[in-house]
Formats: sequence, C-alpha cells, structure tokens
Amino acid sequence: MCGIVGYVGNGSSVEVLLGGLKRLEYRGYDSAGIAVLDPRGELAVRKHAGKLGILVDELDAVPLSDGPTGIGHTRWATHGGPTDANAHPHLGDDGRLALIHNGIIENFAELREALLAEHPDTVFTSETDTEVAAHLVGNAYRASGDLTEALREVVQTLHGAFTLLVMHKDLPGVVVGARRNSPLVIGLGEGENFLGSDVAAFIEHTRNAMAIGQDQIVTITPDTVTVIDFDGNPVAPEAFTVEWDASAADKGGWSSFMAKEVTEGPDAIANTLLGRVVDGEVRVPELEVLDDELATIERIVLIGCGTAAYSGLLGKYAIERWARVPVEVELSHEFRYRDPVLNDRTLVVSISQSGETMDTLMAVKYATAEGARTVSICNTQGATIARESDAVVYTHAGPEIAVASTKAFHAQVTALYLLGLHLARVRGTLAADEAAELIAELSGLPEKLASVLEAHDSIRELAHWMTDARSVLFLGRHVGYPIALEGALKLKELAYIHAEGFAAGELKHGPIALIEPGQPVFVIVPSPRAEDSLHAKVVSNIQEIRARGARVLAIAEQGDAAVLPYADVVIPIPLATTMFEPLLAITPLHLFAMELASAKGLDVDQPRNLAKSVTVE
Ligand code: M6R
Repeated sequence: MCGIVGYVGNGSSVEVLLGGLKRLEYRGYDSAGIAVLDPRGELAVRKHAGKLGILVDELDAVPLSDGPTGIGHTRWATHGGPTDANAHPHLGDDGRLALIHNGIIENFAELREALLAEHPDTVFTSETDTEVAAHLVGNAYRASGDLTEALREVVQTLHGAFTLLVMHKDLPGVVVGARRNSPLVIGLGEGENFLGSDVAAFIEHTRNAMAIGQDQIVTITPDTVTVIDFDGNPVAPEAFTVEWDASAADKGGWSSFMAKEVTEGPDAIANTLLGRVVDGEVRVPELEVLDDELATIERIVLIGCGTAAYSGLLGKYAIERWARVPVEVELSHEFRYRDPVLNDRTLVVSISQSGETMDTLMAVKYATAEGARTVSICNTQGATIARESDAVVYTHAGPEIAVASTKAFHAQVTALYLLGLHLARVRGTLAADEAAELIAELSGLPEKLASVLEAHDSIRELAHWMTDARSVLFLGRHVGYPIALEGALKLKELAYIHAEGFAAGELKHGPIALIEPGQPVFVIVPSPRAEDSLHAKVVSNIQEIRARGARVLAIAEQGDAAVLPYADVVIPIPLATTMFEPLLAITPLHLFAMELASAKGLDVDQPRNLAKSVTVE
C-alpha cells in the first residue's frame, strides 16, 4: 500500500516521478503528490486527493519549475482520510524538508506528544502518522546538518512498518531512504539513480537494480549509492537485473491491465514450469538446498491471504495426494496470532504475488523464529518475503498490475504443483509413470487454458445480462471448492456484488436456505471422465438447487451431457485430470467478474478501497 518513488539525476524529476507513480498507482490511489527542488533551489510540493490523473491534470495546467531531485507518492489511506492535507509529501524543518512514507508508524501519537512538549510551536497540518516523522527528521537535520544521520536517528524511535524517503532544500541531488518491513529498491542509471517501492517505479529507465535489506538506510546522489544499517555500519546491497522490461508493465492495447493479465494465464503457467522439468522429472533447483529436510518433514503449513490463500487450498489437495505429507492451509493473519505448533520438522510455505503482504511477511518471520523451515512462492524478484525465507520458488507470471490477482493465481498453483511433485520425487511417494503422466499433462495445460479464453465473448454477454444481480453464489466440491471461493472473491472485489463460495457438500447443512427463484449460482462441475470424479454428486447438487428455482451457471467439461438438462448456461472447459481442472475452471470466473464490473462502469484495475500490495496489517 502506497507507492514511493525517488529520483536524483540529470533529467526532469517531474516526468520521472509521474511516470514512476503511474506504474505504482496499483499500490494505492487515494491521493498522489510530489516534491521537487526547482532550479532556484526552492522546494516545491504539489499534492492532491484522488487518483494520480487529477495531479497530472493540475501539473499540466500549472507546471512546476522542474529540477533533477524529487520524491513522489501515491497513497492508500490509513491514518486520516483521502484529503489534500493528508496526501504526501509532508514537510518538516519549516517547509525545507519533504518526506513520504509507506506503512504505519504505530507510536506516532506518543511521538507527536513528546515532540509538542519539546517544541510547542510545531504546526501539524494533517491527521497522518507520517507528519510527525517529517518534523522529527527536520529537527534532527537542523541539529546535525547530516540528512542520512538525521533519518537514522529518527528511525530508531519509530515502531511499526515503514519505508521513508526524504529530501531537503539544502541538498540538491540527494534523496535518503529507510526501510523496515516495507519494500524499497534502488534503480541504477547513468548519472542518475532511483528509489522505488518496487522496480516498476523506474523500469522505464533501468533494469539494473539493488535490493535494500531490512533496517537499512540508503543515500542516493546522481553518481553514488551508499547503504548502511540502522546502527550505521556499511552494507553491500545485493544487485539484480530485472527480468522483464517496461513493455511488460504496459496495457499493450488492452482496455485494462486485468484484461491483459487474464489472457497471460497460459504464459504464467508455461513460464513457471520453465527449467523445472528435467528429463521428464520435476526438479526445482531452488528447493534442492532443502532436499534433506524435505525428505523428512512431518507437516506442511501453507500460508497466504486472499487469492494466494485459495491457491494454497489447491496446493493442499495436490501435495497430500502426491507426496503424502499432511498439509494445512491457513490465512497468514490468523496463523500468526494463534500460537501454532511449529518445529524444525514443519515446512511453512508462504504464497504471495507481491512478496510484500505484511500479514504473510510477519507470519514467515514468526515461523522462522519458532524453528520451522520456510519456503516462499513469490512473483516479485527480491521481495521481502522471498528474502526472509530459507528458499524461494519464483513464479514467472510477469508483473501483475491490476489489483485483482489472475495470472498470478495460475502461476502460484503451478508452483505448488511443482512443489508437490518435487516432494513426491524426494520422498519416493509417486510411481515414476504416474509422475510422468502428471508432468506431461501439466505441460499441456497452457494450450488448454488458451482454448478456454475463447469463451470470452459469451462470458461478456452473460455478464451483461446479469448487471442487476444483487447476490451470486458459487458451488464447488473437492478442488472445485477453492475455485468457488476465488470466483466469489473476484465478484465482490470487482463488481461490488454480494457473492459467496460454498463447498457443494455443505449445501444441505445450511446454505441451501439462500436459494430462492432466480438466484444465480455458478457451479464448478468435475469432469465425468476424470478418475475419482465427484461428477455425479455435483450433478445431484445442481438438481437440488434447480428444484428450488436457482439459475444454474455451470462450468463443465465440453460435452458433459448430464449437466445440460439442468443448467441455464454451460461454460465449457476441456478435459483435464481432477487436480488440473481448477486451472481451467477459474478463468471463466475471472472473466465474468471483470466483464460484470466493466458493464457496471466500474474501474476493474483499481476497485474501490483496495490496493495491490497490502503492506500494513
Ligand atoms: O501479493 P499477495 O499475493 O500476497 O496478495 C494477497 C492478496 O492481497 C491478494 O491475492 C488479493 O486477495 C487480491 N486482490 C485478490 O484478487
């Protein structure tokens, strides 16, 4: 939540900052603001409530005198509503210092009280937790004349999670940043350097990046990058090259990022498999360091939030079936606070597209402290969760910009299947021919998924008929159940319609009371031809709801004759082994939620109240 960008160099900082904020806007879009040092050495600030476009229009109408030093921020409101006054940057040192922040300063009220006791004339102009940090750094700089030291002194007093960037009127060509439990990366240019919440902030300018570790402070000038820890010791940051380029983070002619990303599902699966199937066997090189432990672990706990947690539910089915290890799936925020039983025979696998979700990060840290081994499944190079884990299996979905997670879900499920097959090989729990069949089918899934995307037009039509729906239910059984949950999440998130996913077997234990004439119900129907199929049971569930007047929207295997008489609409998917059906069945539901939201005139990339990376608890 909140996107941060910093720039020092030889170009136009307004242009660099606005370009960076545009790419970071998925992180928060309640307000946006920039501060630049103009050519006369004056600190100029512009900020506005609402989406970045409002600030851009204002800057077009009344341009700023530009200079090559600046910081920019796009906000997801925590303390104080989305107003102009609460927008960042905030000022310290009598308006000579500008500061932006991502995270939450938990002890801001005590700090503010102490500050006012010492400097009663301090004027606060916002309701944010951030402004106190701006005043504190301003005061510390006034005392020492050293901005890096001033920031270092202040971060020692802050509790919570934060990335802070500061610049000062006296220091053209200098931006200083600090991070604790919140992301910050460096972009290295020629005669210019960048800071950003993630590499998207500067990908237009450079793919050469450096990760900043936990509790570190970075000072950039156009030609230097210096990193120290909170104790002042020098640190050598880890360099990496960003795997994708600016075009991957563009809409590329699509109406929305989400529309583009849904269609990238097949590539997300294929790229996540790449290099991990060797001679017909699954070998995940990143996991090999842990192979001895993987052979003897007694239990796996999969943690994540939202869509990532639903991918974990699918991982449970696959890993238990193939590797015969007990697997639990838990929401990261519940896991950490319930005193779970963990030891060195427990493998905790975190799943996160951003790799920055605070609830998941804290759960990983908790698991490590309790002695568990940790693996992260992550889509963002150099992300904090990846760095905090014993091993990381990167998903290669490419940048996901739309707030709603789609192709990352496909990549996460694929990575979990790879983990299951890797574990099965290490533990010798799956016959070689069975493993080979699964791997061959998994490798063929991108093609099948591409054929599911051909139903887009008919799904759009269905969505247009349903713009008045007030509630939509989703039913699934076995691996169809997580798909029902994910389908419902997307509809809530994008179309603001009440939606719930149920395990179809649970219907008679309560939810069937919700069915009344006309109630739309999506049903994920297993293939009648797949092994151990629960097809007949789900068809019975369809009959039960149909008998009570439900409008049945079935996602079923192409040509499933048993469903046709009872369904109002059938969205066909190709035949797949039970375990792989969900990767095909979810896409119609992603498309449906997107199209229904579009038909209602809603912004599918930036749904209300949400942000892409949830970096606060
Ligand atoms: O970055 P993460 O994968 O950790 O994010 C987890 C959830 O916040 C995320 O999947 C969220 O539920 C999506 N917006 C759902 O579409």
